[in-house]
Amino acid sequence: MALFRTVSFAESLPTVEGEGVMLRAPVMADFMEWATLRNLSRGFLTPWEPTWPADDLTRSAYRRRVRRYAEDIRMDQAYAFFLFRKSDDLLIGGLTIANVRRGVAQAGSLGYWMGAPYAGQGYMTAAVRAITRFSFSSLRLHRLEAACIPTNTPSVRLLEKVGFKREGLARQYLCIDGIWQDHLLFARLDTDGRS
Ligand SMILES: CC(C)(COP(=O)(O)OP(=O)(O)OC[C@H]1O[C@@H](n2cnc3c(N)ncnc32)[C@H](O)[C@@H]1OP(=O)(O)O)[C@@H](O)C(=O)NCCC(=O)NCCS
Repeated sequence: MALFRTVSFAESLPTVEGEGVMLRAPVMADFMEWATLRNLSRGFLTPWEPTWPADDLTRSAYRRRVRRYAEDIRMDQAYAFFLFRKSDDLLIGGLTIANVRRGVAQAGSLGYWMGAPYAGQGYMTAAVRAITRFSFSSLRLHRLEAACIPTNTPSVRLLEKVGFKREGLARQYLCIDGIWQDHLLFARLDTDGRS
């Protein structure tokens, strides 16, 4: 019955390929590369993300993060990916399909971040296209949502470019950088066709 689909990737999340990029589940061995990239991108990322906990870039917090990601996959609640540049296997960013709702919704929420040195080069466009295909074909979602602060021009441009439709403005939708901030709501449906 299509309306009550669930999906199980309890053993391992598949690798997802896009133009010039590859996405896979985070593992412990990614810690140093991830922490280094997040640290050098701190000023670029923090205005657009939930406040980072003080211990966020430590190995123990990362271990908890990786365990939570695995548990989220097992429970079909969220799917976190790290983003790699195919030409040299460098870790350049990350994407998450969070808050997966099954039953009559079959929906999830897309989030993403790019390491500062790699922004504005089209890698995230390729990654969002690939993860959107994965959401509809492998996760069998009907609706992929994304939200961004209206002044986040690169994020708005990215979503429009990959075929997400603007659906409205949600007041004080998420607490970003310590402040409840209004967000533009976007979504793509599995019936929207290719983009
Ligand atoms: C949002 C983000 C992931 C986009 O990544 P990216 O690497 O810039 O994405 P891309 O290069 O694939 O595409 C971005 C688009 O925005 C455009 N853009 C970038 N900066 C811009 C600016 N200041 N003004 C107008 N357009 C801009 C780019 O030109 C590109 O569009 P184009 O292909 O038509 O030229 C990245 O900027 C980021 O991580 N920002 C900080 C964290 C964040 O905002 N997370 C998302 C919260 S909703």
